Amino acid sequence: MEAFEKIKTLLTEISEAQPADKDGLEQFRIRFLGTKNIIKPIFGEMRNVPNDQKKDFGLALNELKAAAESRFNVLKDSIENAQDQSAGLGLDLSLPVDNKLQGSRHPVSIVMNKMIDIFEKIGFVVAEEREIEDDWHNFTAMNTPADHPARDMQDTFYLKNSITNLLRTHTSSVQARVMTTQKPPIRIIAPGRVYRNETISARSHCQFHQIEGLYIDKDVSFADMRQTLLYFAREMYGAKTDIRLRPSYFPFTEPSAEMDVWLGTDTASTKRLTKGTGWLEVLGCGMVDPNVLINCDIDPEEYSGFAFGIGIERSAMQKFNISDIRQLFENDVRFLRQFSNVI
Ligand code: DAH
Repeated sequence: MEAFEKIKTLLTEISEAQPADKDGLEQFRIRFLGTKNIIKPIFGEMRNVPNDQKKDFGLALNELKAAAESRFNVLKDSIENAQDQSAGLGLDLSLPVDNKLQGSRHPVSIVMNKMIDIFEKIGFVVAEEREIEDDWHNFTAMNTPADHPARDMQDTFYLKNSITNLLRTHTSSVQARVMTTQKPPIRIIAPGRVYRNETISARSHCQFHQIEGLYIDKDVSFADMRQTLLYFAREMYGAKTDIRLRPSYFPFTEPSAEMDVWLGTDTASTKRLTKGTGWLEVLGCGMVDPNVLINCDIDPEEYSGFAFGIGIERSAMQKFNISDIRQLFENDVRFLRQFSNVI
């Protein structure tokens, strides 16, 4: 019957009503409990209801009225409570958000992200790995024999009661992780934190960041490495940048080199940064030593590759004119806020 249906629909509406604020609550009150409320006229329909249903109809109407009253009280309580809470906390939830205290990127992240972007553009993929390593991945696989001074307790943080687990001393350990789990062609960069047991001073810290690069494929040559690093230097330091490769030694590359970029001596700051030479030392690199490939089950007759390792802190300090490396690890917000405009 139509009048019964109407009551049912209104009951549902009442139980589902959820006004967001005082105004919404007032509308609910006017609709269901006000002097011209929607329930009143339904009482007038009583005379059209057959006699044997009049009693049920009356009960249903009373129920509807009671439901409206009790729902109103519940809603009123919850809205007043919410207001009390925000007032109690001294909050005005209607105020616009204060954007003044936005976070900022850490200078190390800014430089690292820029370097990652540069290599991603030419197809390198980011590989992230563990900071707690074993000595096989950190040293042995990387052709660093057991009696190599780099393994010395004075340089490496070993885990308590362990002679095999350590905090990685360089991101080169990721090379071993990737080469033992992926088949060539491999083209990765591995950004991350490394640790060395060094005395903390303005110039050196016991933790810092590196980006490792590794490229393994058929017929990869030293010229490929030089071109890749020249591209990197020009993206990083400007289109006219020149580089030079100086012979060097690393256990995991043969031949090995260190790359300098030409900054010139035109300004006081480039003079200072390059110690008057115009050249700034940026990274270590070389052709992956065949022993490393063999250790990782890659056939050096079939594949060759190059690798490089870039220190991040020094670049960040140059870029932002930071004179003390310790500032990069103290997380003093007054220091960090200075970089809030840099993306
Ligand atoms: N792992 C070296 C270091 O921490 C840096 C390095 C040099 C990485 C030459 C390389 C490389 O991949 O080819 O000093």
